[in-house]
Amino acid sequence: MRAAVLNQIPGELEIEEVSIDKPAANEVLMRVVASGLCHSDLHFMDGLWQTKLPAVMGHEAAGVVEAVGEDVTYVKPGDHVISCLSVFCGKCRYCLAGHLSICENPGAVSRPRGGASRLNNAKGEALAQFARLGAFAEMMLVHENAVVKIREEMPLDRASLIGCGVTTGLGAVFRTARVEPGSEVAVIGAGGIGLSAIQGARIAGASKIIAIDVTAPKLDVARQLGATHVVNATEGDPVEQVKELTGGGVDFAFEAIGSKQTGEQAFRMLRPRGVATIIGMAPMGTNFELPAHEVFMGEKTFKGSMMGSNQFRLDMPRFIDLYLDGKLMLDEMVSHRIKLDEINHGYDLMRNRQTTRTVITFD
Ligand SMILES: NC(=O)c1ccc[n+]([C@@H]2O[C@H](COP(=O)([O-])OP(=O)(O)OC[C@H]3O[C@@H](n4cnc5c(N)ncnc54)[C@H](O)[C@@H]3O)[C@@H](O)[C@H]2O)c1
Ligand SMILES: [Zn+2]
Ligand SMILES: [Zn+2]
Repeated sequence: MRAAVLNQIPGELEIEEVSIDKPAANEVLMRVVASGLCHSDLHFMDGLWQTKLPAVMGHEAAGVVEAVGEDVTYVKPGDHVISCLSVFCGKCRYCLAGHLSICENPGAVSRPRGGASRLNNAKGEALAQFARLGAFAEMMLVHENAVVKIREEMPLDRASLIGCGVTTGLGAVFRTARVEPGSEVAVIGAGGIGLSAIQGARIAGASKIIAIDVTAPKLDVARQLGATHVVNATEGDPVEQVKELTGGGVDFAFEAIGSKQTGEQAFRMLRPRGVATIIGMAPMGTNFELPAHEVFMGEKTFKGSMMGSNQFRLDMPRFIDLYLDGKLMLDEMVSHRIKLDEINHGYDLMRNRQTTRTVITFD
C-alpha cells in the first residue's frame, strides 16, 4: 500500500510503498476512505516537536474495516469506523475515570517491542505509526481500542474530520471547559480546531462567540459557523478588543493555535472566574507566564485539553447525530480535497493560512 512517510525532522512527507502486516489479536485492519490534514503533524514536519522516525504520519481518518484479529468482537469486516489517537487501555486510573485521552498505558495497545512491526518500508525497516495511527495511508492496522463504529449513512469524508479536529474542538467546549448556556466565549485561531470550538460554543448555547484570527477569510467562515463577533488580531490588541466587546472579558477562552503569545492572551481576556483552555500545541519547551494576582484574586482557571478530553466511543457517534440533524456543520469546514500525492501541497496551503480543513480522499 502507499503511505506518506516522514523520514527526518524537519522534513517533507514522502509517498512510499509500505508493507502492512495481518491483524494480530485485538487489532483491526481498516481501509482508509478519507484522512484530514491537522496542524499537529505539521509541527513535527517543521521541527517544533519530535517523534519516532521513520513514521507514517496522519491521525484523522475514517474508513471501512477490512479484517479483524483473533478476539476482536467490537467490529467486523464491512463496519464503518473512525479512528482516534486516544487509544485506551481501559485499565489505568485515567481510563477507569473516563479520561481516555490521557491513558497512561500506551504499551498495552501497542505491539510488544522486538516483535514484528505493523508497518515496514521497502528497505524492510520498521515504520512507526504517528499517534499510534498512521492515517496518511491507504490502510491502517490499529488496536481495536483505536476505533469507533459509526452509522453507515454518515459520509466518510466528513466523518474523518471527527477523528481529530471536531472532537478536539467540541470536546474542549463540552467536556474540558463545560461551557454553559448564555456564557460568553472567545476562540483564538479559526482553523479546523478553532472552528469546531466555535460550533461547540454555538451548540452549547453561548450568547456571545468571538472568533479571533489573523486572516479575514477565516473570520468569514467563523461567522458562518456560529461566531457572533470577529476580531482580526492584526488590527490592534485582541485582548483589548475582546474586553471591549464583553465589558470586561469572557467566561471561556479557547486557544487553538499553539504559541506562548496566544496562550497568554487567552488567560488575559478572561473575566473573574473565567476559564482559559489551551488546545494548541505550542513548541516543545514553551513556558506560559500568568499574572499571579489575577489567578487567585480573580479565581481564574488556566487548563489544557488533550483531544477534547474525549470519551470517543460515546462522543463521536453523538457528533455524527448532530451533523445528520443539521446542527453541526462539516461540509462548510472542508476547504480543499486532495489526493495522497498532493499532501505536501496541502500542508503548504495550511502554512500559508489558506485552508480551513483539507481532506485526502482515497479511491
Ligand atoms: N490539544 C489537542 O489535543 C490538539 C488536537 C488537535 C490539534 N491541536 C493543535 O491545535 C492547533 C490548531 O490546529 P488546526 O489544525 O486548527 O490549525 P490551523 O492551521 O488550521 O489553524 C490555525 C489558525 O490560527 C490562525 N492564527 C495563526 N496565528 C495567529 C495569531 N497570532 N492570532 C490569531 N490567529 C492566528 C491561522 O490563521 C489559522 O486559521 C495546532 O497547534 C494543533 O497542533 C491540538
Ligand atoms: Zn489533530
Ligand atoms: Zn489507560
